[in-house]
Amino acid sequence: MTFQTLDDLPAAQRVLCRVDLNSPVEDGTVVDNRRFDRHAETVRELSEAGHRVALLAHQGRPGRDTFVGLEQHADLLADHAGVDVSYVPDTYGEEALAAIRALESGDVLLLENSRMVDAELPEESPETKAETAFVQTLAAEFDAYVNDAYSAAHRSHASLVGFPRALPAYAGRVMETEYEANTAIASREFDGPVTMVVGGTKATDVIQVMEALGDRVDQFLLGGVAGELFLRAAGHPVGRDVDAELFDEQWEANGDTVERVLDEYGDQIRLASDLAYETDDGDRAEVAVADIDEKTTDYLDVGAETVADYEPVIRDSDAVFVKGALGVFEDERFADGTVGVLEAVAETDCFSVVGGGDTSRAIELYGMDEADFSHVSIAGGAYIRALTGQELVGVAELERATETGPA
Ligand code: 3PG
Repeated sequence: MTFQTLDDLPAAQRVLCRVDLNSPVEDGTVVDNRRFDRHAETVRELSEAGHRVALLAHQGRPGRDTFVGLEQHADLLADHAGVDVSYVPDTYGEEALAAIRALESGDVLLLENSRMVDAELPEESPETKAETAFVQTLAAEFDAYVNDAYSAAHRSHASLVGFPRALPAYAGRVMETEYEANTAIASREFDGPVTMVVGGTKATDVIQVMEALGDRVDQFLLGGVAGELFLRAAGHPVGRDVDAELFDEQWEANGDTVERVLDEYGDQIRLASDLAYETDDGDRAEVAVADIDEKTTDYLDVGAETVADYEPVIRDSDAVFVKGALGVFEDERFADGTVGVLEAVAETDCFSVVGGGDTSRAIELYGMDEADFSHVSIAGGAYIRALTGQELVGVAELERATETGPA
């Protein structure tokens, strides 16, 4: 580990801990999800160790429906952690400072949505962020900063990169485990084949992953919108807009690159041999890709043949990384591809990591056991960046702080 962790944190500290509780919000209600459960571990550990703990987190982005305060988050986190979590609707004003100063050993306080502070969001250097009144004012109240928000660590926001310049900085447990699992594809040696399941809706993500990992991955198994775009590159009349406008624009922007990647890594790429669609009666039906003369309907999943094709590859792998769903799994009729492949991964003993936000949601939606995977990431954008070897600025700041201490 290249940064200090909670194992290095001195006793009885006033701790400012950044977590990532950014969640879906439906009709104003924050949806419970595994981010609460994961961060609960760090929060419980800090509280039980007797630290005085204030938590910083963000929710949504200004202007969006998901941009709400964190009152509900405090209750959800308390439920998961089994410790009281109080909430103050202020981040670093007088009300927040009073609540922070009133903390006693083992207390946990959640401050207001960090993105409600003007200084938080603009992507600026850690030096600039460290000089903001937000960071300076809060840092004066604490002995230590813990960053547990791996899934937000690609953002150069004040709460993520400013504080390691102002306080001794440590990684929380989520930061530690996410870092280790998500960098494994680049850093670990595996004895046998490495397989990557790539799907989802964004061609650019898939291209990036393939280009960055072409040398490390033996087989890429494709599905989803991205998979259809690769089928188009292979000469099939799919990967085009019918009802859903998901393909033509992406093809215009990335078609050449998809063709080049297919050409370059062709031997390592497996494409769907059949696809599933909705019949006029609302049922699921499947068609072999070879039998499609013209695309007249949207394809919503890969078919059973494809799953049967992918299963032995997964079984023979020493490591499997999953990024992106193979179909519209939120609709039970079109979950077979994503769930079938995830079940195949769960059944092997290989090292396995599932990430990319949505994909990991299929695991809980369809009652799979997280323990059957080596790691289920709670990161979205940060997961892609980690897989493609890009630096996460929040992690880099923890590493810098470990080497040199607060600036
Ligand atoms: C996430 O949910 O992936 C992180 O919290 C980052 O959120 P953002 O994409 O709004 O910066």
